[in-house]
Amino acid sequence: MISILMVCLGNICRSPLAHGIMQSKLPDDLFYVDSAGTGAYHIGNAPDKRSINVAKQNGLDISTQSARQFKVSDFDAFDIIYAMDESNYNNIVSLARNTRDIKKVKMFLEANSSIQNKNVPDPYYGGQDGFKYVFELINDTCDALVKELID
Ligand code: 4NP
Repeated sequence: MISILMVCLGNICRSPLAHGIMQSKLPDDLFYVDSAGTGAYHIGNAPDKRSINVAKQNGLDISTQSARQFKVSDFDAFDIIYAMDESNYNNIVSLARNTRDIKKVKMFLEANSSIQNKNVPDPYYGGQDGFKYVFELINDTCDALVKELID
């Protein structure tokens, strides 16, 4: 079993999409996918309605996810930790206990060679259009990651 953790700031907009999309593309007997936020603002909340909507428009139900905060024991529980942006990356790495922990942390968009800016934009303060863009960006990147992981 390979376990994958998707991490953003609030765990209500970007990482729930990455969680749901990645889970839908991988066999669940071989991969475990989860998500978390580096911040504590939305612990216990369902994903943002706009993330739920764009996922639903694409045939995915992420409405039952519940936000949680990234914790140090996630370095033990997960094989790969994908950060949605550089700020998330730095927040996660600041909690690492050793180089083994640090090596598990990757920038999610590093898998996407057609995108120069390696930060998934935070759509929280925008409209539904931003969520559509983020969905497509995450979906394309998950396709590339699946190719990397299943060889
Ligand atoms: P996320 O978006 O990190 O993609 O879940 C955010 C959600 C909430 C906040 C910031 C970003 N917030 O400041 O409440």
